[in-house]
Amino acid sequence: MTGPGGPRGLGHPRLHLRVATSTNERARLLAAGGAPHGTLVSAAEQTAGRGRQGRTWTAPAGRSLLCSVLVRDPPRLLPLAAGVAVADAVEEAVPARSVQVKWPNDVLLDAGKVAGILVEGRPQERWAVVGIGLNVAVAQTDFPPELAGRAATLGLAPERIEPTLRVLLARLEHWLAADPETLLAEVRARDALLGQPVRWAGGEGRADGIDGEGRLVVIIPDRGRVTLDAGEVHLVR
Ligand code: BTN
Repeated sequence: MTGPGGPRGLGHPRLHLRVATSTNERARLLAAGGAPHGTLVSAAEQTAGRGRQGRTWTAPAGRSLLCSVLVRDPPRLLPLAAGVAVADAVEEAVPARSVQVKWPNDVLLDAGKVAGILVEGRPQERWAVVGIGLNVAVAQTDFPPELAGRAATLGLAPERIEPTLRVLLARLEHWLAADPETLLAEVRARDALLGQPVRWAGGEGRADGIDGEGRLVVIIPDRGRVTLDAGEVHLVR
């Protein structure tokens, strides 16, 4: 662990590992042990990277931004704040490309998934860990065949991982402090699902925006509008 911690913004103290099982796992252990708000765990490689819905997250060594940030007293809309923060960092790294957020927080570059976010925490202890995997220097040929055409990369050199992390932490800090309406306006402006067909275990319909609680609004033929909560619903497409 390096750095004294304290009120220095996100990223302090920082633990950088050449290889981690999962940066989220490590950050959660640090959180439970009393690490301060803003603690960052990063790794060049993960052996057991975790994705949402129990999936694994794989990335070639040294070519991806893999990190987890500890947020104490997390705001209600933390998962959405993380999504727009990553989208901002992507936009800054590769300007003039289409950057959207697929609710709740997959970040899409020209419609391909360029980053995944896994927020895990202990609400009763008032902390959460924001885990981010961003394909900075991954080659298209590194993606497994089943992801061909659905995964995206910034296509930059590995040297750009650190500068991208710095921008990402600054944007996350910004969105953590933003008022909910400003954040929701940004989420709506980047909404990749608007007007698109969506399907989940409980039904299917057409996405119709994000409500004031950060839930996905869906229109179901013959049933009208329903709202889906990110913590409860997994979109199938
Ligand atoms: C998703 O399924 O889309 C979320 C993927 C989140 C992956 C990141 S990589 C860094 C951090 N550590 C993990 O084990 N997972 C997250």
